[in-house]
Amino acid sequence: MAQLIDGKVISKQIKDELKEKVAELKENGTEICLAVIQVGNDTASSVYVGNKKKACEYIGIKSLAYELPEETTEAELLNLIDKLNHDDAVNGILVQLPVPEHIDEDKIIKAISPLKDVDGFHPMSVGALSIGQPGFVSCTPAGVIQLLKRSGIEIAGKECVVIGRSNIVGKPMSMLLLRENGTVTICHSRTKNLKEVCRRADILVVAVGKPKMIDASYVKEGAVVIDVGIHRDENNKLCGDVDFASVEPIAGAITPVPGGVGPMTIAMLMNNCVESINIR
Ligand code: GUN
Repeated sequence: MAQLIDGKVISKQIKDELKEKVAELKENGTEICLAVIQVGNDTASSVYVGNKKKACEYIGIKSLAYELPEETTEAELLNLIDKLNHDDAVNGILVQLPVPEHIDEDKIIKAISPLKDVDGFHPMSVGALSIGQPGFVSCTPAGVIQLLKRSGIEIAGKECVVIGRSNIVGKPMSMLLLRENGTVTICHSRTKNLKEVCRRADILVVAVGKPKMIDASYVKEGAVVIDVGIHRDENNKLCGDVDFASVEPIAGAITPVPGGVGPMTIAMLMNNCVESINIR
């Protein structure tokens, strides 16, 4: 039986620690403020944005909501970002992705000041991470590191295999594991002998985006398995990239879906908002 890594419990711990920190800051006259921008009314985005606002409320972070119509032009959005970049009362700026097709996502990401880039998506933030300088770190991979550390799992010297090379998860995940002194391999769609490479892993982080793709044949006995995927299976039940029923009996530790990595993303976004006072 694998140790179950409980993202609900760990994310609550982090949020409670942040709540205390925010209360202390308030006593000393510092208020933290996050601006959340949503363009259009994509249903999934509205749910994510709603959850971010709720987390801000719980922790005591002020949130400014900008709900812009689908027809908002790129220039209008850039103007708003510019205004928020120059507003000293705003610590963090988040533009919920995806933006409508007529808006260039890369341009929007680059327009957010790296000093307020709480998503950690700006090229400056990504570059700072890769050379070990202070900056915001993408929330999901930062959450995975917290899951490992707070579950007592050592990273230094371990064989870490990351499946997936996206800018938001795979690449920053590998940089963070390297920063923690892991020996890191990144696998992707062109990797040869994927199974053999995965079976070397002491820590296997799966972000492939394919439901239940990783079964026990990819996993070394006793390995720590972190599942970043989230999907609906054939019975409309939530599942991850890992076939939990197959892998759990042989893993040393494993994250469930839901309730593993998922809740950590917002907790780390809140952490980035609080950290923003040190990145000024
Ligand atoms: N859309 C889905 N996930 C995210 C996220 O973490 N940040 C932003 N800005 N948009 C998203």
